[in-house]
Amino acid sequence: MASADLIKKLENTIENIPDFPIPGIQFKDISPIFLDPKLYEEVIADLAAASKGKVDAVCGIESRGYLFGIAIAVALEVPFILIRKKGKLPPPIISEKYDLEYGSAEIETREGQIKKGQRILIHDDLLATGGTTEAAAKLIEKQGATVAQFSFLIGLKSLNGDEKLKKFGAEVYHILEY
Ligand code: PRP
Ligand code: MG
Repeated sequence: MASADLIKKLENTIENIPDFPIPGIQFKDISPIFLDPKLYEEVIADLAAASKGKVDAVCGIESRGYLFGIAIAVALEVPFILIRKKGKLPPPIISEKYDLEYGSAEIETREGQIKKGQRILIHDDLLATGGTTEAAAKLIEKQGATVAQFSFLIGLKSLNGDEKLKKFGAEVYHILEY
């Protein structure tokens, strides 16, 4: 559980942009966090502490999952593996398709970077519907590793993303909940 002080600072820093990118969506802009290196350090310390001793590697989801994911892995002194959108990584790759509200998408990792039996932290900035994270978890299990934990800066409660993640039996950690 993050400190009340950190939660308050983040609530005052993250900007809520109504009706972006489409009407009805409240966009949470995390970019002001990167204007404040001390606050960024506090965020990484909190996220790393939440995973300390529980994971052997961190997988970050392109692209905003990289903004904190690599720093978490460095703080924990464990490997960082990129989960990328389709077509960005050179072969050999392993991929997972998933449904979006309209159409479908695909994510990929380089084969061999995730090792069998590893306990993996999946990190992303935001848990919304959970579709992206669910696909990432399937991609990890496909490679004989276990999802040990999910971490997010923000969880959007109203969209019930946690429900999609229950089947993986891993802890879900987020600093802020809206
Ligand atoms: C956003 C966000 C999460 C995902 C959450 O990424 O960064 O990755 O959506 O949505 P879900 O829980 O409904 O799947 P986006 O695809 O907008 O791309 P970006 O990270 O490259 O900005
Ligand atoms: Mg994203």
